[in-house]
Amino acid sequence: MDKKELRKKILTIRNKMTVEDVENNSRIIRNKIINLDIYKKSKTVFIYMDFKNEVTTSILIKNMLSEGKRVLVPFTDSVNTAIIPSEIFKESDLVLNPFGYYEPKNLLSVPVEEIDLVIVPGVVFDKNLNRIGFGKGYYDRILAKLKASAKKIAVAHDFQLLDLIPTEEHDIKMDILVTEKRIIGMDTS
Ligand SMILES: Nc1ncnc2c1ncn2[C@@H]1O[C@H](COP(=O)(O)OP(=O)(O)O)[C@@H](O)[C@H]1O
Ligand SMILES: [Mg+2]
Repeated sequence: MDKKELRKKILTIRNKMTVEDVENNSRIIRNKIINLDIYKKSKTVFIYMDFKNEVTTSILIKNMLSEGKRVLVPFTDSVNTAIIPSEIFKESDLVLNPFGYYEPKNLLSVPVEEIDLVIVPGVVFDKNLNRIGFGKGYYDRILAKLKASAKKIAVAHDFQLLDLIPTEEHDIKMDILVTEKRIIGMDTS
């Protein structure tokens, strides 16, 4: 199957998940992340705001803010099809947009070189840490600009992880993938 067919297949399954399954998986995944050394060491974390049954991130964000980590979330610049990492200091710096996910009320952009860790969403992944997103390349473009020492941790429900998916030159690989059932790529940490 090509990227487009794989997206459709996996999104159909994800869209049918119950809130309970999403929450259960998200809790397990969050606890695994919190225990990773890479997470503990990271001071500035760029993390997505979940949308339509993606692994949820709000509790992880609360944890990071209370621990004193710098938290950056995506500010969507749809004109340039770009996401701008924007700093938040408290939950109330976020507002629900018409698309159904939270965004920072105000853009407070932070240079990409300051990011130590990115928590990356996605639609389909494989065991070689390849990723397929929604098809606009937003994450490929921003991840390509990270400093060399920055890490990329993807999170997904286990059914989103396949053996092998198609990739293109511009696709950026993850360092670690965490699902509720397994962690892939720990040897690279
Ligand atoms: N680093 C990049 N520079 C320019 N264009 C890019 C870059 N990364 C991805 N793109 C473009 O974004 C589009 C979508 O990429 P694709 O990998 O299919 O999406 P996704 O990663 O969201 O599944 C492609 O047309 C691709 O050419
Ligand atoms: Mg891609």
